[in-house]
Amino acid sequence: MPYHRTGLAEQMAQQLLRPGFLDTSLRSGLFLSGQRRVGKTTFLAADLIPALEALGAVVIYVDLWSQPQANPAELVHGAIRQALAELQTPGSSVLKRLKRVTGLDLGAAGFSFGFKLAELGKPGGVSLAQAFTELVDRAQTDVVLIVDEVQHALGHAEGDAMLHALKAARDAINTRPDTPGHFLFVGTGSHRARVQELAVKGNQAFNGAVTHEFPVLGREFVEHVLTQVRPQLGDKTPSAAVTEAAFQAMGHRPEELMKALNVLRSLPPGTSPDEHLPTIAQSLSATAADIELQKVETLGALTEAVFARICGEDGDARGLFTAEALKAYGVQLGREVAAPEVQGALGALMGANLVMRIKHGHYGVTDPLVEKAWRARQESQGLLGAKGKGEAKRAADRRPAP
Ligand SMILES: Nc1ncnc2c1ncn2[C@@H]1O[C@H](COP(=O)(O)OP(=O)(O)OP(=O)(O)O)[C@@H](O)[C@H]1O
Ligand SMILES: [Mg+2]
Repeated sequence: MPYHRTGLAEQMAQQLLRPGFLDTSLRSGLFLSGQRRVGKTTFLAADLIPALEALGAVVIYVDLWSQPQANPAELVHGAIRQALAELQTPGSSVLKRLKRVTGLDLGAAGFSFGFKLAELGKPGGVSLAQAFTELVDRAQTDVVLIVDEVQHALGHAEGDAMLHALKAARDAINTRPDTPGHFLFVGTGSHRARVQELAVKGNQAFNGAVTHEFPVLGREFVEHVLTQVRPQLGDKTPSAAVTEAAFQAMGHRPEELMKALNVLRSLPPGTSPDEHLPTIAQSLSATAADIELQKVETLGALTEAVFARICGEDGDARGLFTAEALKAYGVQLGREVAAPEVQGALGALMGANLVMRIKHGHYGVTDPLVEKAWRARQESQGLLGAKGKGEAKRAADRRPAP
Protein backbone atom coordinates (compact mmCIF):
# COMPACT_ATOMS: atom_id res chain seq x y z
CA MET A 1 0.00 0.00 0.00
CA PRO A 2 1.64 3.23 -1.05
CA TYR A 3 1.47 6.29 1.09
CA HIS A 4 -0.99 8.54 -0.73
CA ARG A 5 -0.19 12.11 -1.65
CA THR A 6 -3.73 13.10 -2.45
CA GLY A 7 -3.40 16.81 -1.74
CA LEU A 8 -0.39 17.21 -3.98
CA ALA A 9 -2.05 15.22 -6.76
CA GLU A 10 -5.29 17.22 -6.55
CA GLN A 11 -3.38 20.45 -6.70
CA MET A 12 -1.43 19.32 -9.76
CA ALA A 13 -4.57 18.04 -11.46
CA GLN A 14 -6.28 21.39 -10.85
CA GLN A 15 -3.35 23.31 -12.27
CA LEU A 16 -3.30 21.11 -15.34
CA LEU A 17 -7.00 20.92 -16.07
CA ARG A 18 -8.36 24.13 -14.56
CA PRO A 19 -5.36 26.41 -14.83
CA GLY A 20 -5.42 29.88 -13.38
CA PHE A 21 -3.87 32.62 -15.44
CA LEU A 22 -0.39 31.89 -14.08
CA ASP A 23 -0.61 28.17 -14.84
CA THR A 24 -1.70 28.29 -18.47
CA SER A 25 1.83 27.54 -19.66
CA LEU A 26 1.27 24.02 -18.34
CA ARG A 27 -0.86 23.53 -21.44
CA SER A 28 2.40 23.51 -23.39
CA GLY A 29 3.44 20.42 -21.47
CA LEU A 30 4.68 19.53 -18.01
CA PHE A 31 7.88 17.65 -17.38
CA LEU A 32 8.77 16.25 -13.98
CA SER A 33 12.29 15.12 -13.38
CA GLY A 34 13.40 13.14 -10.39
CA GLN A 35 16.11 10.69 -9.63
CA ARG A 36 15.68 6.97 -9.80
CA ARG A 37 13.52 5.10 -7.27
CA VAL A 38 12.06 8.18 -5.59
CA GLY A 39 8.47 7.19 -6.33
CA LYS A 40 7.65 8.90 -9.63
CA THR A 41 5.72 6.02 -11.14
CA THR A 42 3.96 5.28 -7.87
CA PHE A 43 2.81 8.88 -7.59
CA LEU A 44 1.49 8.88 -11.14
CA ALA A 45 -0.37 5.61 -10.76
CA ALA A 46 -1.63 5.91 -7.20
CA ASP A 47 -2.35 9.62 -6.97
CA LEU A 48 -2.06 11.78 -10.07
CA ILE A 49 -3.99 9.60 -12.52
CA PRO A 50 -6.93 9.12 -10.13
CA ALA A 51 -6.98 12.87 -9.41
CA LEU A 52 -7.02 13.70 -13.12
CA GLU A 53 -9.74 11.15 -13.74
CA ALA A 54 -11.79 12.51 -10.87
CA LEU A 55 -11.82 15.83 -12.70
CA GLY A 56 -13.20 14.08 -15.78
CA ALA A 57 -10.09 13.70 -17.89
CA VAL A 58 -9.30 10.75 -20.10
CA VAL A 59 -5.81 9.66 -19.06
CA ILE A 60 -3.47 7.59 -21.20
CA TYR A 61 -0.35 6.30 -19.48
CA VAL A 62 2.73 4.72 -20.97
CA ASP A 63 6.08 3.81 -19.45
CA LEU A 64 8.94 3.98 -21.94
CA TRP A 65 11.11 2.07 -19.52
CA SER A 66 8.82 -0.93 -19.44
CA GLN A 67 10.75 -2.35 -22.39
CA PRO A 68 14.07 -0.55 -22.71
CA GLN A 69 14.87 -2.08 -26.07
CA ALA A 70 11.49 -1.36 -27.65
CA ASN A 71 10.81 1.47 -30.04
CA PRO A 72 9.39 4.29 -27.87
CA ALA A 73 7.06 5.54 -30.61
CA GLU A 74 5.57 2.06 -30.88
CA LEU A 75 5.00 1.95 -27.11
CA VAL A 76 3.19 5.30 -27.15
CA HIS A 77 1.08 4.42 -30.16
CA GLY A 78 0.22 1.09 -28.58
CA ALA A 79 -0.96 2.79 -25.37
CA ILE A 80 -3.10 5.26 -27.33
CA ARG A 81 -4.62 2.49 -29.42
CA GLN A 82 -5.44 0.52 -26.31
CA ALA A 83 -7.08 3.49 -24.59
CA LEU A 84 -9.18 4.29 -27.65
CA ALA A 85 -10.15 0.64 -28.00
CA GLU A 86 -11.44 0.65 -24.42
CA LEU A 87 -13.49 3.74 -25.16
CA GLN A 88 -15.01 1.93 -28.13
CA THR A 89 -16.03 -1.00 -25.98
CA PRO A 90 -19.58 -0.68 -24.63
CA GLY A 91 -19.65 -1.02 -20.84
CA SER A 92 -15.87 -0.69 -20.36
CA SER A 93 -14.80 0.72 -17.02
CA VAL A 94 -13.27 3.80 -18.68
CA LEU A 95 -16.59 4.60 -20.34
CA LYS A 96 -18.52 4.07 -17.13
CA ARG A 97 -16.27 6.41 -15.20
CA LEU A 98 -16.43 9.04 -17.92
CA LYS A 99 -20.22 8.90 -17.88
CA ARG A 100 -20.30 9.12 -14.12
CA VAL A 101 -17.82 11.96 -13.75
CA THR A 102 -18.68 14.12 -16.73
CA GLY A 103 -22.36 13.26 -17.03
CA LEU A 104 -21.76 12.70 -20.73
CA ASP A 105 -24.74 11.03 -22.39
CA LEU A 106 -23.36 8.21 -24.47
CA GLY A 107 -26.27 5.83 -24.42
CA ALA A 108 -25.25 2.20 -24.15
CA ALA A 109 -22.75 2.28 -26.98
CA GLY A 110 -19.06 3.07 -26.87
CA PHE A 111 -17.35 5.75 -28.90
CA SER A 112 -16.98 5.30 -32.61
CA PHE A 113 -14.07 6.99 -34.29
CA GLY A 114 -13.86 8.05 -37.92
CA PHE A 115 -10.58 6.23 -38.41
CA LYS A 116 -9.16 2.75 -38.05
CA LEU A 117 -7.35 2.30 -34.76
CA ALA A 118 -4.88 -0.11 -36.28
CA GLU A 119 -3.66 2.64 -38.61
CA LEU A 120 -2.75 5.04 -35.83
CA GLY A 121 0.95 5.75 -35.93
CA LYS A 122 1.40 3.90 -39.22
CA PRO A 123 2.72 5.78 -42.26
CA GLY A 124 -0.28 7.21 -44.10
CA GLY A 125 -2.56 6.35 -41.15
CA VAL A 126 -4.49 8.79 -39.01
CA SER A 127 -2.25 11.42 -37.38
CA LEU A 128 -2.09 11.85 -33.61
CA ALA A 129 -3.52 15.36 -34.07
CA GLN A 130 -6.59 13.97 -35.86
CA ALA A 131 -7.03 11.13 -33.42
CA PHE A 132 -6.79 13.30 -30.29
CA THR A 133 -9.00 16.02 -31.79
CA GLU A 134 -11.68 13.45 -32.41
CA LEU A 135 -11.25 12.03 -28.95
CA VAL A 136 -11.60 15.45 -27.28
CA ASP A 137 -14.68 16.21 -29.36
CA ARG A 138 -16.36 12.87 -28.70
CA ALA A 139 -15.58 12.76 -25.01
CA GLN A 140 -16.16 16.50 -24.52
CA THR A 141 -13.37 16.55 -22.02
CA ASP A 142 -9.61 16.88 -21.51
CA VAL A 143 -7.18 14.23 -22.60
CA VAL A 144 -3.95 13.78 -20.65
CA LEU A 145 -1.13 11.72 -22.08
CA ILE A 146 1.41 10.72 -19.44
CA VAL A 147 4.72 9.39 -20.68
CA ASP A 148 6.88 7.96 -17.91
CA GLU A 149 10.63 8.07 -18.57
CA VAL A 150 10.04 10.26 -21.59
CA GLN A 151 13.74 10.87 -22.16
CA HIS A 152 13.90 7.45 -23.80
CA ALA A 153 12.07 8.94 -26.78
CA LEU A 154 14.97 11.28 -27.41
CA GLY A 155 17.45 8.87 -28.89
CA HIS A 156 15.35 7.55 -31.75
CA ALA A 157 14.34 9.15 -35.03
CA GLU A 158 10.90 7.64 -34.58
CA GLY A 159 10.73 8.86 -30.99
CA ASP A 160 11.56 12.39 -32.09
CA ALA A 161 8.94 12.21 -34.82
CA MET A 162 6.41 10.99 -32.27
CA LEU A 163 7.18 13.93 -29.94
CA HIS A 164 6.67 16.33 -32.80
CA ALA A 165 3.39 14.63 -33.66
CA LEU A 166 2.28 15.12 -30.04
CA LYS A 167 3.21 18.78 -30.21
CA ALA A 168 1.15 19.07 -33.40
CA ALA A 169 -1.79 17.45 -31.59
CA ARG A 170 -1.41 19.86 -28.68
CA ASP A 171 -1.35 22.86 -31.00
CA ALA A 172 -4.24 21.63 -33.12
CA ILE A 173 -6.51 21.12 -30.11
CA ASN A 174 -5.52 23.77 -27.61
CA THR A 175 -5.60 26.67 -30.04
CA ARG A 176 -9.25 26.15 -30.95
CA PRO A 177 -11.24 28.93 -29.26
CA ASP A 178 -14.20 26.77 -28.25
CA THR A 179 -12.50 23.46 -27.70
CA PRO A 180 -14.56 21.23 -25.36
CA GLY A 181 -11.35 20.00 -23.79
CA HIS A 182 -7.60 20.38 -23.94
CA PHE A 183 -4.76 18.03 -24.74
CA LEU A 184 -2.19 17.87 -21.99
CA PHE A 185 1.14 16.18 -22.01
CA VAL A 186 2.92 15.12 -18.84
CA GLY A 187 6.34 13.56 -19.04
CA THR A 188 8.55 12.26 -16.24
CA GLY A 189 12.14 11.28 -16.38
CA SER A 190 15.02 10.10 -14.26
CA HIS A 191 17.60 12.23 -15.93
CA ARG A 192 17.11 15.88 -15.21
CA ALA A 193 19.37 17.22 -17.93
CA ARG A 194 17.75 15.01 -20.56
CA VAL A 195 14.26 15.92 -19.44
CA GLN A 196 15.01 19.61 -19.38
CA GLU A 197 16.41 19.33 -22.86
CA LEU A 198 12.94 18.39 -24.02
CA ALA A 199 11.47 21.61 -22.76
CA VAL A 200 14.18 24.17 -23.36
CA LYS A 201 16.02 23.30 -26.52
CA GLY A 202 14.70 25.11 -29.55
CA ASN A 203 14.98 22.01 -31.66
CA GLN A 204 12.89 19.90 -29.32
CA ALA A 205 9.20 19.36 -29.68
CA PHE A 206 8.13 20.74 -26.34
CA ASN A 207 9.90 24.02 -26.41
CA GLY A 208 8.10 26.27 -23.91
CA ALA A 209 6.82 23.48 -21.70
CA VAL A 210 7.23 23.69 -17.93
CA THR A 211 9.87 21.63 -16.15
CA HIS A 212 9.62 20.88 -12.45
CA GLU A 213 11.61 18.80 -10.03
CA PHE A 214 9.53 15.85 -8.93
CA PRO A 215 8.42 16.69 -5.39
CA VAL A 216 10.15 14.00 -3.34
CA LEU A 217 8.57 12.38 -0.32
CA GLY A 218 9.25 14.18 2.93
CA ARG A 219 8.56 14.43 6.64
CA GLU A 220 4.93 13.29 6.43
CA PHE A 221 5.92 10.12 4.62
CA VAL A 222 8.66 9.47 7.18
CA GLU A 223 6.18 9.88 10.02
CA HIS A 224 3.73 7.57 8.28
CA VAL A 225 6.43 4.92 7.91
CA LEU A 226 7.50 5.26 11.55
CA THR A 227 3.91 4.70 12.68
CA GLN A 228 3.87 1.53 10.59
CA VAL A 229 7.15 0.14 11.92
CA ARG A 230 6.75 1.12 15.58
CA PRO A 231 4.98 -2.13 16.57
CA GLN A 232 7.97 -4.11 15.27
CA LEU A 233 10.79 -1.80 16.28
CA GLY A 234 9.49 -0.78 19.69
CA ASP A 235 12.17 1.20 21.54
CA LYS A 236 14.47 0.82 18.53
CA THR A 237 12.22 3.23 16.62
CA PRO A 238 14.25 6.29 15.67
CA SER A 239 12.97 9.84 16.03
CA ALA A 240 11.23 11.51 13.10
CA ALA A 241 13.92 14.17 12.75
CA VAL A 242 16.80 11.68 12.58
CA THR A 243 14.84 9.43 10.21
CA GLU A 244 14.02 12.34 7.95
CA ALA A 245 17.69 13.29 7.76
CA ALA A 246 18.61 9.68 6.98
CA PHE A 247 15.91 9.49 4.31
CA GLN A 248 17.33 12.61 2.74
CA ALA A 249 20.87 11.24 2.86
CA MET A 250 19.64 8.16 1.00
CA GLY A 251 18.27 10.26 -1.85
CA HIS A 252 14.62 10.15 -0.68
CA ARG A 253 14.27 6.55 -1.76
CA PRO A 254 11.56 4.65 0.15
CA GLU A 255 13.15 1.26 -0.43
CA GLU A 256 16.42 2.41 1.09
CA LEU A 257 14.59 3.79 4.11
CA MET A 258 12.89 0.44 4.68
CA LYS A 259 16.24 -1.33 4.45
CA ALA A 260 17.80 1.05 6.95
CA LEU A 261 14.95 0.61 9.42
CA ASN A 262 15.27 -3.13 9.03
CA VAL A 263 18.91 -2.95 10.05
CA LEU A 264 17.84 -1.27 13.29
CA ARG A 265 15.97 -4.43 14.27
CA SER A 266 19.21 -6.34 14.70
CA LEU A 267 20.76 -3.78 17.05
CA PRO A 268 21.43 -5.14 20.54
CA PRO A 269 18.83 -4.10 23.12
CA GLY A 270 19.46 -0.78 24.78
CA THR A 271 21.32 0.81 21.86
CA SER A 272 20.10 4.16 20.60
CA PRO A 273 18.52 4.00 17.14
CA ASP A 274 19.12 7.72 16.59
CA GLU A 275 22.82 7.18 17.09
CA HIS A 276 23.07 4.37 14.55
CA LEU A 277 20.64 5.33 11.81
CA PRO A 278 22.83 8.01 10.16
CA THR A 279 25.74 5.57 9.74
CA ILE A 280 23.43 2.86 8.45
CA ALA A 281 21.93 5.30 5.94
CA GLN A 282 25.33 6.37 4.74
CA SER A 283 26.61 2.89 4.10
CA LEU A 284 23.37 1.81 2.42
CA SER A 285 23.33 4.67 -0.05
CA ALA A 286 26.90 3.93 -1.02
CA THR A 287 25.86 0.32 -1.56
CA ALA A 288 22.99 1.21 -3.91
CA ALA A 289 25.23 2.79 -6.53
CA ASP A 290 27.80 0.05 -6.00
CA ILE A 291 25.23 -2.59 -6.88
CA GLU A 292 24.68 -0.89 -10.22
CA LEU A 293 28.42 -0.70 -10.83
CA GLN A 294 28.73 -4.37 -9.93
CA LYS A 295 26.18 -5.11 -12.64
CA VAL A 296 28.54 -3.48 -15.11
CA GLU A 297 31.37 -5.67 -13.86
CA THR A 298 29.38 -8.87 -14.24
CA LEU A 299 28.72 -8.01 -17.89
CA GLY A 300 32.34 -8.60 -18.74
CA ALA A 301 35.57 -6.73 -19.41
CA LEU A 302 34.58 -5.27 -22.77
CA THR A 303 31.27 -3.99 -21.40
CA GLU A 304 33.19 -2.41 -18.56
CA ALA A 305 35.53 -0.71 -21.01
CA VAL A 306 32.58 0.60 -23.05
CA PHE A 307 30.87 1.84 -19.89
CA ALA A 308 34.07 3.58 -18.80
CA ARG A 309 34.28 5.29 -22.16
CA ILE A 310 30.70 6.50 -21.84
CA CYS A 311 31.35 7.84 -18.32
CA GLY A 312 34.59 9.41 -19.48
CA GLU A 313 32.88 11.34 -22.24
CA ASP A 314 30.99 13.50 -19.77
CA GLY A 315 27.69 11.76 -20.24
CA ASP A 316 27.42 12.27 -23.96
CA ALA A 317 29.52 9.63 -25.57
CA ARG A 318 29.80 9.03 -29.24
CA GLY A 319 32.63 7.47 -31.06
CA LEU A 320 32.20 4.16 -29.25
CA PHE A 321 32.96 2.40 -32.52
CA THR A 322 35.75 4.45 -34.04
CA ALA A 323 39.02 2.80 -34.99
CA GLU A 324 40.61 4.68 -32.09
CA ALA A 325 38.00 3.36 -29.65
CA LEU A 326 38.36 -0.21 -30.88
CA LYS A 327 42.10 0.07 -30.48
CA ALA A 328 41.71 1.41 -26.91
CA TYR A 329 39.41 -1.49 -25.95
CA GLY A 330 41.93 -3.82 -27.52
CA VAL A 331 44.74 -2.45 -25.38
CA GLN A 332 42.63 -2.75 -22.22
CA LEU A 333 41.59 -6.30 -22.98
CA GLY A 334 44.88 -7.43 -24.45
CA ARG A 335 43.25 -8.76 -27.60
CA GLU A 336 41.65 -7.51 -30.77
CA VAL A 337 38.10 -6.13 -30.42
CA ALA A 338 35.65 -5.87 -33.34
CA ALA A 339 32.74 -3.47 -33.74
CA PRO A 340 29.95 -6.09 -33.50
CA GLU A 341 31.27 -7.07 -30.05
CA VAL A 342 31.04 -3.45 -28.95
CA GLN A 343 27.48 -3.36 -30.27
CA GLY A 344 26.75 -6.40 -28.13
CA ALA A 345 28.28 -4.80 -25.04
CA LEU A 346 26.27 -1.64 -25.61
CA GLY A 347 23.12 -3.70 -26.02
CA ALA A 348 23.80 -5.42 -22.71
CA LEU A 349 24.27 -2.06 -20.98
CA MET A 350 21.04 -0.71 -22.43
CA GLY A 351 19.20 -3.89 -21.63
CA ALA A 352 20.22 -3.47 -17.99
CA ASN A 353 19.08 0.17 -18.10
CA LEU A 354 22.56 1.31 -17.20
CA VAL A 355 23.05 3.27 -20.38
CA MET A 356 20.67 5.02 -22.70
CA ARG A 357 20.74 6.47 -26.15
CA ILE A 358 20.64 10.26 -26.08
CA LYS A 359 20.50 10.97 -29.75
CA HIS A 360 21.58 9.04 -32.76
CA GLY A 361 24.99 7.56 -32.03
CA HIS A 362 25.28 9.29 -28.62
CA TYR A 363 25.03 7.40 -25.35
CA GLY A 364 24.91 8.41 -21.70
CA VAL A 365 24.70 6.82 -18.26
CA THR A 366 21.05 6.52 -17.28
CA ASP A 367 21.37 7.23 -13.56
CA PRO A 368 23.44 10.31 -12.74
CA LEU A 369 24.11 8.91 -9.25
CA VAL A 370 25.69 5.82 -10.75
CA GLU A 371 27.86 7.92 -12.99
CA LYS A 372 28.88 9.98 -9.97
CA ALA A 373 29.71 6.83 -8.03
CA TRP A 374 31.78 5.58 -10.93
CA ARG A 375 33.74 8.83 -11.03
CA ALA A 376 34.20 8.79 -7.27
CA ARG A 377 35.53 5.26 -7.50
CA GLN A 378 37.95 6.21 -10.28
CA GLU A 379 39.09 9.16 -8.25
CA SER A 380 39.58 7.23 -5.04
CA GLN A 381 41.51 4.59 -6.93
CA GLY A 382 43.63 7.39 -8.37
CA LEU A 383 44.10 8.87 -4.90
CA LEU A 384 45.06 5.51 -3.46
CA GLY A 385 47.63 5.18 -6.18
CA ALA A 386 49.01 8.65 -5.46
CA LYS A 387 48.96 8.04 -1.71
CA GLY A 388 50.82 4.81 -2.23
CA LYS A 389 53.54 6.66 -4.08
CA GLY A 390 53.61 9.40 -1.47
CA GLU A 391 54.09 6.88 1.27
CA ALA A 392 56.82 5.13 -0.64
CA LYS A 393 58.55 8.46 -1.02
CA ARG A 394 58.14 9.32 2.66
CA ALA A 395 59.47 5.89 3.56
CA ALA A 396 62.43 6.55 1.29
CA ASP A 397 62.93 9.93 2.95
CA ARG A 398 63.02 8.29 6.36
CA ARG A 399 65.76 5.95 5.30
CA PRO A 400 69.08 7.15 6.59
CA ALA A 401 71.20 8.65 3.90
CA PRO A 402 74.00 6.32 2.89
N1 LIG B 1 4.17 6.92 -1.82
C1 LIG B 1 4.86 5.79 -1.57
N2 LIG B 1 4.60 5.04 -0.49
C2 LIG B 1 5.28 3.91 -0.25
N3 LIG B 1 6.25 3.41 -1.03
C3 LIG B 1 6.56 4.11 -2.13
C4 LIG B 1 5.89 5.34 -2.45
N4 LIG B 1 6.41 5.79 -3.60
C5 LIG B 1 7.34 4.92 -3.97
N5 LIG B 1 7.44 3.90 -3.11
C6 LIG B 1 8.33 2.73 -3.24
O1 LIG B 1 9.59 3.17 -3.73
C7 LIG B 1 10.05 2.31 -4.79
C8 LIG B 1 10.28 3.12 -6.03
O2 LIG B 1 9.05 3.62 -6.48
P1 LIG B 1 8.75 3.93 -8.01
O3 LIG B 1 9.00 2.77 -8.87
O4 LIG B 1 7.41 4.57 -8.05
O5 LIG B 1 9.87 5.04 -8.26
P2 LIG B 1 10.39 5.62 -9.63
O6 LIG B 1 10.94 6.95 -9.29
O7 LIG B 1 9.33 5.54 -10.67
O8 LIG B 1 11.55 4.60 -9.95
P3 LIG B 1 12.29 4.30 -11.34
O9 LIG B 1 13.41 5.28 -11.38
O10 LIG B 1 12.78 2.90 -11.19
O11 LIG B 1 11.28 4.48 -12.43
C9 LIG B 1 9.01 1.23 -4.92
O12 LIG B 1 9.42 0.11 -4.21
C10 LIG B 1 7.78 1.82 -4.31
O13 LIG B 1 6.95 0.85 -3.74
MG1 LIG C 1 9.32 4.78 -12.62
